[in-house]
Amino acid sequence: MAEDHRIPRPVRDSQSEMAEIVLPNDANPLGALLGGRLMHWIDLAGAMAAHRHSRNHVVTASVDHIDFLVPVRVGDLVILRSSVNRVFHTSMEVGVKVYVENYIADTAQHVASAHLTFVAIDSAGKRVPVAPVIPETDEQHQRYDDAGRRREIRRAELERRHKR
Ligand SMILES: CC(C)(COP(=O)(O)OP(=O)(O)OC[C@H]1O[C@@H](n2cnc3c(N)ncnc32)[C@H](O)[C@@H]1OP(=O)(O)O)[C@@H](O)C(=O)NCCC(=O)NCCS
Repeated sequence: MAEDHRIPRPVRDSQSEMAEIVLPNDANPLGALLGGRLMHWIDLAGAMAAHRHSRNHVVTASVDHIDFLVPVRVGDLVILRSSVNRVFHTSMEVGVKVYVENYIADTAQHVASAHLTFVAIDSAGKRVPVAPVIPETDEQHQRYDDAGRRREIRRAELERRHKR
């Protein structure tokens, strides 16, 4: 029998990690990682958690603003960690945190964070409900609550923009 994709699943089941070494093709002429390349990686890392949680196709509905906190250089190792913060109905908020790891000094620096909303769709492109996500740790509970507040802000902002 086919598995029921609507069974609630813990956050940890779909948490994902992606790693990239910054190559010259990812950088500007001064050797600094392009913001657009990092945004692309953030989208992919977010989609991984969304796919794994929803067990479906997903599309990116929105990306909240991104601050680039420190420059990343050619040769750096970039680590992107993603997890589903909260599921609404057909959409889910995913948080992505980006670090740059210095493997010589064994240090990691926080580079950027972003919240993305993905919507689950079936192979015909029709929106489909997503199974609830179960927060377990204090941090996951905090993110779950914060995601609810961010959704209200997003909805108000969307409505404001489309009324113009
Ligand atoms: C995202 C998309 C599926 C929403 O479809 P829609 O017909 O506008 O659907 P609705 O307005 O009824 O919203 C459906 C869900 O998406 C959410 N949503 C829609 N627009 C959103 C936005 N800008 N930000 C966050 N969530 C959004 C709604 O809150 C709703 O969530 P829920 O089911 O969990 O309550 C549709 O706009 C789309 O396909 N966009 C293009 C996506 C794409 O191609 N992305 C790649 C980037 S080019």
